[in-house]
Amino acid sequence: MGINRNGICWCGSNKKYKYCHLAMDEKIAEYKRNGYEVPSRKLIKNEKQIEGIRESGRINTLILDSISDKITEGITTEDINRYVHELTLKLGGIPAPLGFEGYPKSVCVSVNDQVCHGIPSPDRVLKSGDIVNIDVSTIYQGYFGDSSRMFCIGEVSKERRLLVNTTKEAIEEGLKAVLPYNTLGDMGQAVNDYVKAKGYSVVYSVGGHGVGLEFHEAPYVSYVSKKHTEMLMVPGMIFTIEPMVNEGSPEVYVDDDNGWTIYTEDGSDSAQWEIMVLVTETGYEILAH
Ligand code: MF3
Ligand code: CO
Repeated sequence: MGINRNGICWCGSNKKYKYCHLAMDEKIAEYKRNGYEVPSRKLIKNEKQIEGIRESGRINTLILDSISDKITEGITTEDINRYVHELTLKLGGIPAPLGFEGYPKSVCVSVNDQVCHGIPSPDRVLKSGDIVNIDVSTIYQGYFGDSSRMFCIGEVSKERRLLVNTTKEAIEEGLKAVLPYNTLGDMGQAVNDYVKAKGYSVVYSVGGHGVGLEFHEAPYVSYVSKKHTEMLMVPGMIFTIEPMVNEGSPEVYVDDDNGWTIYTEDGSDSAQWEIMVLVTETGYEILAH
């Protein structure tokens, strides 16, 4: 076989292979023989990497916590960009969106029928009744954190509140399926079933992603996937759960002018929350929310 059980593990732990990833590798190989898509070694993080990514996720969460009481009627989405940018630097991080594939700002802020990738602007003033997604991503000592939340501005309609809350609940449903040796499709279907039962639709053309050593890593994470399909989840994998839920049809389009912002095609409202999850031996750990 050419595998040295007494040699050092490939993961960088400095432990003997037989005391580190050997048993897991054998298990993964068996799933692969049975036709499952399995993660490459690069997607399985070691303790030191997890420690770094956890810290980046902690800062990402702290940024969202810290700005939340400033998100009120009358501020502009550019104000939010400034809060996030300045706080990220103050905490010793770098805003991951800024310059990412040419993205011009430090955060994504998406209002009402904007599905995601809303670009902050001094012209967009938050009004009472708006629902707003703030998507923060941080680089801290080379490691990436990523999470987003919805904010309700002033007096928000029952309908919009329900959309916002249901989207958050869908993530909770998906989380129940995050277990080692389940698949990403088990999680994706749990999200989708919950959303559909409430009469909403999940955007199928944009999904989540692996994260940690890069902003967007494999695997692509779909929320319209089916049970027992997609990549096997194994301990040490880190990915986002970030479904975009539309009140109406799941169809979307990209803003022609800026090439980034995604809108619902029918003009209906859209909500999104995002958490960053580590698969553990017994289930999951939330690294950012
Ligand atoms: N933060 C988004 C995500 O959750 C990615 C935005 S890409 C950017 O995956 F360039 F717009 F920031
Ligand atoms: Co993300």
